[in-house]
Amino acid sequence: MTATSKAARPVTQVVRGQRTSDGAGVRLTRVIGGRALPDLDPFLLFDEFGSEEASDYVGGFPDHPHRGFETVTYMLAGRMRHGDNKGNTGLLGPGSVQWMTAGRGIVHSEMPEQEDGLMRGFQLWVNLPRKDKMTAPRYQDIAPEKIPEVDAGGGARVRVIAGRFANTTGPVSAVATDPLYLDIALPANGSLEVPLPEDDNAFAYVFEGAGTIGGEAVGRGELAVLGAGEGVELAAGPEGARLVLVAGRPLREPVAKYGPFVMNTNDEIRQAVHDYQSGKF
Ligand code: CO
Repeated sequence: MTATSKAARPVTQVVRGQRTSDGAGVRLTRVIGGRALPDLDPFLLFDEFGSEEASDYVGGFPDHPHRGFETVTYMLAGRMRHGDNKGNTGLLGPGSVQWMTAGRGIVHSEMPEQEDGLMRGFQLWVNLPRKDKMTAPRYQDIAPEKIPEVDAGGGARVRVIAGRFANTTGPVSAVATDPLYLDIALPANGSLEVPLPEDDNAFAYVFEGAGTIGGEAVGRGELAVLGAGEGVELAAGPEGARLVLVAGRPLREPVAKYGPFVMNTNDEIRQAVHDYQSGKF
């Protein structure tokens, strides 16, 4: 265990996700965006999906719109085919990331490219500031080999998807909220201290094993909201642990949210619905 420094972030809330379904019947666990944690500025939603039962995922997410924010898909296992109304298409395989800036609007689908086997991963929604909500749509499709993996000592490994850790910068670039997105694997009883920008909001979600975060016990399927401070102290229990650690600059702007549209005002939401229905996406 490392010594607890004064600036270490405490855990202010531990949240367990709610089982729900979305798209065409895809079963998932909603951890941010549900009743327990409606949002964590700038993060609007965080879902974990994971099943070996085809009926839990084969329906996929057929054509649907987005405006005003970003969707981030991180695949751990399985394959998803992505396509949109501008003719963009891509295959997300195990270990890959898609950081999609919906901006002023896209209509896309995310469909499984498999009929059996494990499908597993996360989707995160990241808000855009007012000035960027109507920006041109942009994709960052990142292959697994483009995501650096840092040996953090003592058997800890860190995949740097976005932001910076141990002098290593992740491949996701130029995102308005300067996010950090790390996939951290700790061996049995391993520990790691991760520095975080002081003003960022941050959370850690444990998806394998268990341990402590900021000294608080956190188990598989639980999300720890981190309070004010600098770094966070992570420690695994006897089975080890794997978690994602995500941080970003809060926008502190009004949020008007209606399904797949996230704007600042209700008028902008009405405009988004109108633009979508009149084929302007
Ligand atoms: Co979508």
